[in-house]
This record gives sequence, C-alpha cells and structure tokens, in this order.
Amino acid sequence: MSSSSLVKTWIKGFDQLIGGGFPRPSFIILAGHPGTGKSTFAIQFLLNGATMGGEKGVYASFLEREETFVRNMSKSYGFDFKKPIDEGTLHFLEFTPLASTAVSDTLNQIVKTIIESGAKRLVIDSLNALFGETAPAEQRRLLEIVLNRIIKDQGCTVIAILEQSIGKTEIGFGIEEFVADGLIVFESYVETLEAKRRAIIRKLRGTLHSARYQNILLKPGEGISFLQLAE
Ligand SMILES: Nc1ncnc2c1ncn2[C@@H]1O[C@H](COP(=O)(O)OP(=O)(O)O)[C@@H](O)[C@H]1O
Ligand SMILES: [Mg+2]
Repeated sequence: MSSSSLVKTWIKGFDQLIGGGFPRPSFIILAGHPGTGKSTFAIQFLLNGATMGGEKGVYASFLEREETFVRNMSKSYGFDFKKPIDEGTLHFLEFTPLASTAVSDTLNQIVKTIIESGAKRLVIDSLNALFGETAPAEQRRLLEIVLNRIIKDQGCTVIAILEQSIGKTEIGFGIEEFVADGLIVFESYVETLEAKRRAIIRKLRGTLHSARYQNILLKPGEGISFLQLAE
C-alpha cells in the first residue's frame, strides 16, 4: 500500500503504531470505558484531517449539542471547532437519542451529508446511542448498507465509538468481528490508587500494527497523545 493511500490521524504517538495511518477506506471501531478519551481521539481525527489533510469531516453526535460541544472543546483543549464548521470543512450533525426517527432515517441523513459535502472522514459518537434497542442482526444489516455507500463508494474513513461499561468484558454487538476493519480498545484501570487510561489495537486489517498497550495522555491545549507503557 502506498503511503499516500494511508489516512493519517496526526495524533501524537498514534500513526506510528499502525504503520503510518489507517488503510483507505476503512471502518474503525473505537470501543471502551467512559472518560478514556474516545471522543477526544475521534474529534482530533476530524480536526487534523480538515486542517492538515484537506479532508472534510462529519461528526454525528447523539450526546451533545453543537453549541456545548464547540464550547467544551475550546475550553478543555483549546480546539477551534467553530472556524471549520463556519467554513464548511466540518459538519456537526446533532441527533437526539430519544427522537422517534428510525435508525435507518438517521443513517440516511448521515449518508446524504457525506455525499453532498464530499467528506472523507466520519465519526459516529456513539453506536450505542444510534442503535438503542435495535436487534443485532438488524444493526449489522443497516451498517452494511451504510458502509457500502460511504466507505466503498465515497472512500470515506469511518470511526464509530462503542461505549463499554467498566467491568464488562464483551465489547459490543458482534459488529467488531463481522464488519469492522479495525478495533481499538480504550481502557480505564487503577494502579497504585490512581485511575489511569490505556489503549490497545486489537485488530487492523492489512497492517502490521503495534500489539502493546499504550498510555493515553489527555492534556490541556494538546488533546490526546499516546506513549508506550513501560514494562
Ligand atoms: N483540558 C483537559 N486536560 C486533561 N484532561 C481533560 C481535559 N478535558 C477533558 N479531559 C479528560 O478527558 C476525559 C474525557 O474524554 P472523552 O474523550 O470525552 O472520553 P470518552 O469519549 O471516552 O468518554 C475526561 O475523563 C477528562 O478527565
Ligand atoms: Mg465520548
């Protein structure tokens, strides 16, 4: 695979773990415990793509209002999300989990935005909120339709977040085994009375990737970065 076909995240310490970037196109699941930096990772993937890679992005949010989101990103990390949104390089799609709209309507709206804007990066935050009580077989059917349209036809890189509760061992709905090209797991753990965060790449089709735990660092003004965990 030529290096130009790789999708860089430009996230400190990350691209080198996956041989330079995600394969293009691909569907990546980011699964893990709350507060471990999944949304931060996904947002930086979009922001860096827009500012450094010239790739438009779409953030489909089920948890936060656009206004709160833009404010928090600026306050916590100093990220300027307003400018790319105003300029049309990033699109924020806001869905309410309780809305009566069917899952397929929501997915159609996402697909429409991707096609109309020509976006090359999509984040779904989160699959749990999108699918709610939808049966697993139906989830896979719907996802496969969407993935064909936006990943195969549009060459889009999709990052989908899967929330995991602390203490639960299984990851999600089986989507990770069947549909995903990649699976990255973010974990929260306790060491010497301190809560810490770590990440591990469990699967990434077509790449020789790191198989070691990485420390997840979240810093004001910088956002997320990865550091090899000491033995
Ligand atoms: N400015 C900051 N500096 C350091 N850590 C921060 C900052 N802002 C937020 N955080 C941390 O980031 C975490 C939230 O990250 P987030 O990406 O929302 O996690 P997730 O999506 O996995 O729930 C919180 O646990 C919080 O402690
Ligand atoms: Mg989140």
